[in-house]
Amino acid sequence: MARRIATVALVVLVGGCHDPGAVPAEGSSGVGSTGTTAASSDSTSAGSSSGTVATEGPDPDSSGSGTTGEPGWEWALPEGFPEPYVPPDNPMSAAKVELGRHLFYDTRMSGSGTYACATCHLQELAFTDGRVTAVGETGQIHRRNSMSLANVAYNASLTWAHPFLTELERQALVPMFGDNPIELGLDSEAELVANLAVEPLYADLFAAAFPDEAEPLTAPNVVYALSAFQRTLISGRSAFDRWFYDGDDDAVDEAAKRGYQLFNSHPAECFHCHVNFNFTDTAYYEGASSWDVRFHNTGLYNVDGEGAYPAIDTGLVEITMEPGDMGHFRVPTLRNIAVTAPYMHDGSIATLGEVLDHYAAGGRTIADGPNAGIGSESPLRSSFVPGFELDAQDRADLLAFLASLTDDAFLTDPALADPWQ
Ligand code: HEC
Ligand code: HEC
Repeated sequence: MARRIATVALVVLVGGCHDPGAVPAEGSSGVGSTGTTAASSDSTSAGSSSGTVATEGPDPDSSGSGTTGEPGWEWALPEGFPEPYVPPDNPMSAAKVELGRHLFYDTRMSGSGTYACATCHLQELAFTDGRVTAVGETGQIHRRNSMSLANVAYNASLTWAHPFLTELERQALVPMFGDNPIELGLDSEAELVANLAVEPLYADLFAAAFPDEAEPLTAPNVVYALSAFQRTLISGRSAFDRWFYDGDDDAVDEAAKRGYQLFNSHPAECFHCHVNFNFTDTAYYEGASSWDVRFHNTGLYNVDGEGAYPAIDTGLVEITMEPGDMGHFRVPTLRNIAVTAPYMHDGSIATLGEVLDHYAAGGRTIADGPNAGIGSESPLRSSFVPGFELDAQDRADLLAFLASLTDDAFLTDPALADPWQ
């Protein structure tokens, strides 16, 4: 597939009927107007250390509304949310989503029969696992923190730092068949099909999901169904949404409203990166003007004085081999953030209060041990992490805003829950 050069133009979707007047478009900050970067992030470009990486997105001209589902498929989208992009070879259908839900929660999806996607992605934790870093079915420790799957349909690149992993259909293969680390521990497609074939329910579920196929229980169809289910993991019904999009002034308290102002202010600068309806600058959907993927270094580590991250995980540079991409990671959504501790790609921050300390300091200082270093002195740290005064009131307000992003309806929605119970 031809690699498209990403152009920088973020559509700002916020500003619904209740706009507290504080969500600047990213273009106004300088990030969105830096033009086109063909290869990798540029840590030294003026005003920003964000990287825009050319990626293999779809041709925007080929997508349009009405192409994302089988006849009869209806998205039930919250106010302010655009229609998710769906690859043309995997249109949405209710039967496919229902099959995918069964697979997501099925321990037959693992080599040992003990593990499922849901083992590391628990609904009540917004599809994270509460661990510092994940543990696979053989007990092997993953180097990274399990990611929330809330609104994963909108992520223009998947996982913490991979510009070319852009479709759920390809990502699912990593936990299924990957061996570094082992997650679900499946050896082959044949093993997967044999595991699933013993469950009588699947005959009907696969037939309904793939009605044109004589033998629909195949590994590619497993991946299609899992992906369709994951695209329905949409979270936009938090107290914040009821206030911001629905105009219910009482949905959040004054502290949360002040916190949101602060979030969108200088020099806190949160909004540069945690932007738009999903609080991330790496989003794609029907009608988006470009498929941008961005990565940033927030000064979490500086082990050598030159900005190095611990060797176990150096982020984007592992893929691009560009030295300036050291420590660059994708911006995660902040939706449901109060229930997804611990934080960051390596789970190295335990609480939201400590996350705020990290940003207020303009990067984390680690006093001793192998990862000792002063993050705020990292030459690779984004200029949007300048450090700022954070008094007790500000801290309480920011925490109240972040807590207002918890979407209880999403965390308890029976349609997203384990169907085997
Ligand atoms: C052993 C625990 C574990 C299992 C099992 C697991 N995951 Fe994950 N998942 C993770 C971790 C850790 C990450 C972050 C990976 C990275 O950044 O390299 C992740 C990331 C993801 C992402 C990327 C989310 C984003 O916002 O970019 C998706 C999608 C995902 N997993 C789906 C699945 C599916 C589907 C399954 C089952 C087929 C599954 N996972 C099984 C731990 C797990
Ligand atoms: C320069 C872009 C940028 C700015 C500015 C920024 N963030 Fe982040 N944020 C990120 C990135 C990238 C990560 C992931 C970093 C990592 O894992 O190493 C992150 C992670 C987080 C996390 C943890 C998410 C998770 O799922 O673990 C929280 C919470 C957070 N940011 C809140 C904030 C707040 C509050 C502000 C403003 C004070 C802010 N961020 C400013 C880019 C940014």
